[in-house]
This record gives sequence, structure tokens and C-alpha cells, in this order.
Amino acid sequence: MMKLSEYEKEQKMIDQKIWSLPKIEKGLMLDMGVGDSTRKLIGLGAKVVAVDSDLNNLVKQKNFDGMLVQCNASYLPFKDSVFELSVASFTLHEINPLLHLNVVSKMTRVSRRVMIVEPMSVQEPVNKRYDDIWSKAMHSIGRFEDYQEIMYWKKLMEKCGLRITICETFMGKNRMTSQEIDELIKRTVTLMNSYYVSKKYIEEIKDLGKDMINKGMRRSSIGVVIGEH
Ligand SMILES: C[S@@+](CC[C@H](N)C(=O)[O-])C[C@H]1O[C@@H](n2cnc3c(N)ncnc32)[C@H](O)[C@@H]1O
Repeated sequence: MMKLSEYEKEQKMIDQKIWSLPKIEKGLMLDMGVGDSTRKLIGLGAKVVAVDSDLNNLVKQKNFDGMLVQCNASYLPFKDSVFELSVASFTLHEINPLLHLNVVSKMTRVSRRVMIVEPMSVQEPVNKRYDDIWSKAMHSIGRFEDYQEIMYWKKLMEKCGLRITICETFMGKNRMTSQEIDELIKRTVTLMNSYYVSKKYIEEIKDLGKDMINKGMRRSSIGVVIGEH
């Protein structure tokens, strides 16, 4: 088995801490935006319905032990209170901020508890530059990639009438190795190409990659907020 770097070990530990927070027991879970979070919830023994607006992302899921539904987060086709927990992990920053309150209120309508996991807006200059390039590239094609402070998510949940039970930020200390930075840049370029963004953003990301290797880079911190009725 491949040896994990200190960075990877730390990220794995943070991940375990985050997913131990909702204390999954029984009942049906809703995952808004299919992907890693869906696999985590299933791995924890949850019965999961995963929704996504992008049919391609749903079709990609193989050996999936749950139900997949194509829909928009603003229009959840479910009855009130059918889920024990609704999760939006790394999904809300891809949605127009003007719709956030509406989306969280829909999550609140269909479930007893709501969990939001989001990357936080930035700490270090290289992270800030990386986030800015991503955000500009996505805005240029009419998509969103807008990170917020943890208090922003907490306040939205409170506005929806939820009582906050957990509000925590997780920050790793270890920096990525040069190889990990290289892989991150390659993944980012592949993703940007798949969205057909202007070459200027791809060049900016590649340039930033060199700086990241010189200066080192940590992952942005992750905020987790859980609220219940
Ligand atoms: C960055 S991925 C995160 C997916 C997953 N939660 C995870 O942890 O890997 C965000 C997902 O949200 C989906 N998404 C974005 N906007 C959406 C919307 N308005 N309604 C439903 N899904 C949406 C995207 O298609 C994408 O699959």
C-alpha cells in the first residue's frame, strides 16, 4: 500500500472528525450534490438519497447503494420531514448566493437536521490567489465558486429556524508536498478545460502552481455547521 504523506494523514484525520459529528444512527439521509460525501454517509451505514442537478455526475456513480435523483437544490421533490439529516457538503458555494436562503430553507423543510460542510474563505496569500482565479473562471462561464465565512452559514441556518448544535472550523497544519501541489494543479487544469474556460485562467493557475511549490500551500480550512428543529 502507498505510504500517506503527513498532509494526507492529517486530511484523513480531519475528514474522520467531520463525519463523526452528525452521529449517523438510523433514518434516511439526503445528500445534496453527489460525490465523496455520499460515499462517506453510505460508509457510515446511512441509507442515502443523493440529489444533483448535473445528470453526468449522477450517471458516473457506480455500485451505488442508495437512491439517485436529478433535481435542483431549490426544488426538492420530497415531502416535509422525510429525512433524518440533509447534508450539503462542498455544494453550496457552487450555487448563486442569492438562492442560499431558499436552498437551506428547503433542506430544513424536508429534514429534522441540516449539516453544511464548506471550504472557508481564505487565510494565506497563495490560497487567496488560487480561490480568486477559480472564482473568476467560474463567474466567466456563469457558474459560482464563492466561499463564505462560517458565520454566514450559521446565520442562514438560524434564519431558517434551526437550533445550532455544532459550529466548528477545521484547519490542517501540514503543507502539501510538491507532488501533491503538482497533482492539484493538473486536476484544476483538467477541470477548467472541461468547462471550456478562457486559456488565460489556465495560464494563471499554472503560474500560481510554481509559486505554490516555492512558498508551500495548506488546504483551506473547512467549516461545519449542524442545526436541528
Ligand atoms: C463540488 S461537488 C461536491 C459533491 C459532493 N457533495 C462531495 O462531497 O464530493 C458539488 C456538486 O453539487 C452539484 N450542484 C451544484 N449546484 C447544484 C444545484 N443547484 N442543485 C443540485 N446540485 C447542485 C454539482 O453538480 C456537483 O455535483
